[in-house]
Amino acid sequence: MLGYKSGIAEVMTKITILRDEFEHMHDTNPIEHIGSRLKSPESLMAKVRRKGCPPTLEAIREQIWDIAGVRITCSFVSDIYRIRDLLVSQRDLTVLAERDYIADPKPNGYQSLHLIVQVPVFLSDRVEAVTVEIQIRTIAMDFWASLEHKIYYKYDGAVPARLLTELKEAALAAARLDTTMEQLHDEVRALAAGTGHARHTSPRRPPTSCCRRSRTSWTSPAPNHPNADLTPHRRRRRRPLPTVGAAATVRPGPGDHTRPVARRDAGGRREPCSDPR
Ligand code: GTP
Ligand code: MG
Repeated sequence: MLGYKSGIAEVMTKITILRDEFEHMHDTNPIEHIGSRLKSPESLMAKVRRKGCPPTLEAIREQIWDIAGVRITCSFVSDIYRIRDLLVSQRDLTVLAERDYIADPKPNGYQSLHLIVQVPVFLSDRVEAVTVEIQIRTIAMDFWASLEHKIYYKYDGAVPARLLTELKEAALAAARLDTTMEQLHDEVRALAAGTGHARHTSPRRPPTSCCRRSRTSWTSPAPNHPNADLTPHRRRRRRPLPTVGAAATVRPGPGDHTRPVARRDAGGRREPCSDPR
């Protein structure tokens, strides 16, 4: 566990440096909040059993990717991709997988961008590559996810259908809020720059896929907020990940949610993902 604790410290330092730099050098800061958590031994062993992972250190290291977790909360969806780009471009971070539940939300409405990265931890006699799960989401997505998490555990997974429907609606509302806030933000910025603005109206794609969550709580759980179905937004072109295949930017891992990242058109906008998720 020491390696994972250090892995968290390394990633937290990277993000804190970015946040500090934005605070001092730029007029806006894309990072609202940073939290972290180390999976408890009980929760880890439960996951090992659930996944049918051999209970050896080597297998656990190879197959369980969220022992160390870092969560970044941003104001706007474009900030999520901005932070993602900044992290991915750091040479000592290796991206093992990217799960974009913003482009392809889970059927219950869950949205976030997940990066599974490996970061080097320098010990006295060796360098350990530690796997860390980084979740990046907006305040609205985080509000929704924390409430959904509470409800899920309150009902021990058997959430009444009415609540599930309402949660889904809340997710859609939260996504709309994210879109509106980003548009307003863009307009205000354009006005301030005296350039006018262009409203972006990319369609949201329908949600899909299945979900699961962990029992472990985060050290600084983000406060309450909401989330949604699909996100448009103007996003910056993302740098390709150092991984496989033409469209795929994800190295397939033991998890079943890892899938190729959506491609971009010439203008840097997302093309619909062929994955049925
Ligand atoms: P876990 O076994 O839950 O870790 O799933 P996974 O390793 O297959 O990966 P996945 O991307 O599905 O989930 C990773 C983490 O994202 C979870 O541990 C949660 O923190 C979060 N998460 C994923 N799905 C949901 C969801 O539907 N609701 C909430 N609240 N959080 C979710
Ligand atoms: Mg997990």
